[in-house]
Amino acid sequence: MSSRADRTTNSTLPAPAVLPSQRPNGHPLEGRAGAISLASDPSGDVRLSEVVSALSYALDITEGQPMGHATRTTLIGMRIARQLGLSQDQLSALYYGLLLKDLGCSSNAARLATLFGSDDQLLKHAFKLTDWTATKDAARYAFKHSLPGKGRIAKAWHMLMLGVREQGTAREMVATRCERGADIARLLRLPSGTPDAIHSVEEHWDGSGMPFGLRGSAIPLLGRIVCLAQTVEVFAAAFDVRTAYEMARTRRGRWFDPTLVEAMASFEFDSAFWGGLRSSATLALVSAIEPEDEVIRCDEDQLDAVSEAFARVIDAKSPYTSRHSVNVSSIAVNVGASMGIAGDDMHTLRRAALLHDIGKLGVSNRVLDKPAALDPDEWASMRKHTAFTLEILKRVARFRQFAATAAAHHERLDGSGYHLGLHGDQLGTISRIIAVADVTEAVSADRPYRAGMPVEEAKQILRRLVAERHLCPVVVEALEGTFTGLPAETPFGELLVRVA
Ligand SMILES: [Fe+2]
Ligand SMILES: [Fe+2]
Repeated sequence: MSSRADRTTNSTLPAPAVLPSQRPNGHPLEGRAGAISLASDPSGDVRLSEVVSALSYALDITEGQPMGHATRTTLIGMRIARQLGLSQDQLSALYYGLLLKDLGCSSNAARLATLFGSDDQLLKHAFKLTDWTATKDAARYAFKHSLPGKGRIAKAWHMLMLGVREQGTAREMVATRCERGADIARLLRLPSGTPDAIHSVEEHWDGSGMPFGLRGSAIPLLGRIVCLAQTVEVFAAAFDVRTAYEMARTRRGRWFDPTLVEAMASFEFDSAFWGGLRSSATLALVSAIEPEDEVIRCDEDQLDAVSEAFARVIDAKSPYTSRHSVNVSSIAVNVGASMGIAGDDMHTLRRAALLHDIGKLGVSNRVLDKPAALDPDEWASMRKHTAFTLEILKRVARFRQFAATAAAHHERLDGSGYHLGLHGDQLGTISRIIAVADVTEAVSADRPYRAGMPVEEAKQILRRLVAERHLCPVVVEALEGTFTGLPAETPFGELLVRVA
């Protein structure tokens, strides 16, 4: 198999011990479609805020921030907004803008890692603590974080080249990030103020921000609040509240709208508020402050839309897998339908497939996109992505019941997979379908560095993996049924078009 996107299908490494409490409900089914049973999805609408606030933890790890960054930012931003007396409509749009401000964050991770030759999460974390509009601070940041482990001359040369070759790159990366985040927010049918806020989160009061260099009141008010709230949160978390306020005052009139900094002064010494931000209950606190008159309910369609939105975030993380989650979902749904899966179980299959690799948001692009074999530490890092998937999805009440199912996509029937080393009798139907869809997409879809594999070759690989007791024969048989009638040389990409 190829060394990049396909490397997560590796199943030859020793598997860690199984934690019984983390095992999904398994059942014997090998080779018999009729023996397959599926868990049902509990029905009933939930608040959209409950779903996206829990999923915002995935955005936090992509940004290299401690988990809870977005929820704490939401608490700070909403406190400023209430101080300003914003309307209920504005509060609702701001609420989602604060929670989802980093929806576009994965789109620049690969580029950042390449430019600096460093870990994207470390780069992003340090960047948030840097006054990058001050030349000296920006130069210090670039010198410290480019080419880690290299000498001063190599670093200086690298910086020079960055300056010469990459003029405009930062603005372009911020533009992509903001546009992508706003586009994804629109998919979620949020109030129009939300994508506008996300789009302007990096603009500064004095016009020194990006991507458009908007100035003063030309920057949407909600974007100004998000900009201040997120920066204060980062400083309060990394240092303390006093340092965060000092930073805000220092950048008042440069980065931040002076009125907002003054509004923030009203709760500087509210120890109960700042203490609450340090607690582990920020999800509950955020849920409690959603504007009551503007609560957005999340029905089944909206849950699908949220899953699709986060699949886009996942796929944007690496240029080598830019449609992987979406393609895996298409394959899985097609195979599932041919196996008789329908109703709530189909909702579960689609969402689990879309989100199966959400844990990759926690893996550095230095590992995901490495153009060579991974060393043991890098492999260990890569293998953690399924554990991250489990942890992230477990936080979302409506996704909890399929968290283990989605996280089991690299498990293999013979127990050689990861991260729990589950065996066939512990792997349910949906896990088996996603595992097959994942391998099929990985070996067959077009990649920037190679063309898609023809159907016949894909079949041979799948059959070998069945013979080795890695993949489920029933699912692979159902998948092969979807190839029926296609010439052997058909590129797999055409099949994806067919099933979409
Ligand atoms: Fe994976
Ligand atoms: Fe995958």
